[in-house]
Amino acid sequence: MGKYNFDTTINRIKTCSARWCVSEGELPLDIADMDFLVMPEIVKAIKNRAEQACYGYTYVPDSYFDAYIRWWKDRHNTKLEKEWFIFSKSVVASIDSIFKHLGKSKDIVTMFTPVYNVFFNCIKNNNLVLKECEFVIDEDEIKIDWEKLETQLKGAKFFLLCNPHNPLGRNFTIEELNKIINLCKQNDVYIISDEIHGDLDLNKGRYISILNSEVTRYEKVICLLSPSKVFNVAGLHSSVAVILNKELREEIQNGFWQDDIGEPNYFAIDPIITAFTQGDDYVDQLNSYLNENRAYLSEFLLKNLPNLKIVSGHYTYLVWIDISCYSSDSILFAKNLREKTGLVVAPGINYGNSGEGYIRLNIATPRKNLIDACNRLMNYISEKVEE
Ligand SMILES: Cc1ncc(COP(=O)(O)O)c(C=O)c1O
Repeated sequence: MGKYNFDTTINRIKTCSARWCVSEGELPLDIADMDFLVMPEIVKAIKNRAEQACYGYTYVPDSYFDAYIRWWKDRHNTKLEKEWFIFSKSVVASIDSIFKHLGKSKDIVTMFTPVYNVFFNCIKNNNLVLKECEFVIDEDEIKIDWEKLETQLKGAKFFLLCNPHNPLGRNFTIEELNKIINLCKQNDVYIISDEIHGDLDLNKGRYISILNSEVTRYEKVICLLSPSKVFNVAGLHSSVAVILNKELREEIQNGFWQDDIGEPNYFAIDPIITAFTQGDDYVDQLNSYLNENRAYLSEFLLKNLPNLKIVSGHYTYLVWIDISCYSSDSILFAKNLREKTGLVVAPGINYGNSGEGYIRLNIATPRKNLIDACNRLMNYISEKVEE
């Protein structure tokens, strides 16, 4: 066993956990946070900070950005410079603010779908218009429809990329990133690359940041990075936007100040420096554990529920499962599954129309819970088949 224990179960009920706000006996595997203990080093950093017992306003020291720079250089071969960074309290808040300040009503946002549901809200809240480029699922491959992307980028203001992709667990190769950037460049489109899931690389593949592309010298690239997912610190509200172009960076920084998202809370700095300076072993061990969870689920389905197919790749802890053999209504499927077994999953339609016929399952939970989830799913399907 490694240094960190991912088998420990934590009782998160009645802890104000947004995910575990469920009835007795229910097992929520929908919202994207993890049920694992946070690195003890992070807990220590929080305790140290708490013990100062004087919780005033906080600034972002250089050491915060240095920690990101070290991490992205050593782990992702991405060379970043301090002056490119802006602090933001969260990735979604950044997207919303960027849309608000760079866009105007009826501007077009293009994105690959199905995709993280909150992206749709950011578009709607800012009165923007969505143009989708649906992924093509072809046997075991999740393909980009390049022709459609070209069409959908015509006249667009923004391209919102989720890299790696939630919920399809797919990374993007450097060739694909270059091609996306070139298409956006031709159409003078801003690229927002949300890389919050970048470190959740279960099978030692390779997440490639958009900032690794030589074409990134394209001045309309905005990259959003965060420790939230991989270190399970979403509740600390700490993230960054990385923008090479000075004018664009200043414009976005002004937007962040106006929207009051540019200043950290008291706990948003030290624990994150700790994570990015001491977290290498934790992330390696976490990814191995998640990969074993994914393998368990995959083998279980193959053996017991061969009509349910995992479609997603090995990035993120979110698994995208084709349920179309049993239902073409993912909301009804998820509702009945919850009512009959207590297992809570996210209906695929939440992630866009092309998500219909799928469910999303969060496997960032101790194996014991995952086994329980698999059995609940099996019981539900066997009852359904008998109906
Ligand atoms: C792709 C993606 N972006 C952003 C977020 C949320 O980020 P934040 O909590 O920093 O707003 C999530 C959470 O699930 C996500 O999956």
